Amino acid sequence: MATRAKKHATGKVPAGDLTQRVGVEQIDARGVNVPELLEKLIDAAGAEFTTYYYYTILRMYLAGNEDYKEICEDARLEDRAHFELITPRIYELGGSIPYDIREFADRAGCPDAYLPGTGDGKHAPGEGTGQGPTAASILEVLLEAERCAIRTWSEVCDLTFGKDPRTYDMAARILNEEVEHEAWFIELVSMERDGVVRPSGHFRRGAPGEAPYSKNAGFYNP
Ligand SMILES: [Fe+2]
Ligand SMILES: [Fe+2]
Repeated sequence: MATRAKKHATGKVPAGDLTQRVGVEQIDARGVNVPELLEKLIDAAGAEFTTYYYYTILRMYLAGNEDYKEICEDARLEDRAHFELITPRIYELGGSIPYDIREFADRAGCPDAYLPGTGDGKHAPGEGTGQGPTAASILEVLLEAERCAIRTWSEVCDLTFGKDPRTYDMAARILNEEVEHEAWFIELVSMERDGVVRPSGHFRRGAPGEAPYSKNAGFYNP
């Protein structure tokens, strides 16, 4: 009996060629603009990384509000998980994060989440004005950072849906958590600033920064 030809045994990338990736060729063939996607992923990874940094400061200045600190910590650690999840994908697609961290921070796709009352991070809180950060002003910064993240990952989902299942799956996992984060901070800003009840459906994570969608045991994501 004649052996049937194996349809996927060979393709455009010659056997043994290490300069091209079938994983890139296939999503390109399905309509993904890979160089454009890579630029967006690097900007998005930069935003997750810088947000993780700034949330560290914001959490510190929620001193005295243990509940807010804990929720800020979940959002902070989950942003680190988002950075860890998406960065290997940049390399799989043949890209790299910048070699200079300053460049990485500057090209982040979302604004710096400065501590309120620091003149965009230029001085100590309240210096010269006596107006240090309040819990409400910090929660507002957190809320707008989450909103930028939702816009970012929604765009990545749009660019990859039906064409690049791997990037789409990662972006959708991250988006799931960003949507939760926005809801948490709407609830908290609403009560803290306006005295209005707007429930988010949130109760605490099982452990700080659990990242139920993006930190999946199936991934290497410490
Ligand atoms: Fe994030
Ligand atoms: Fe977030």
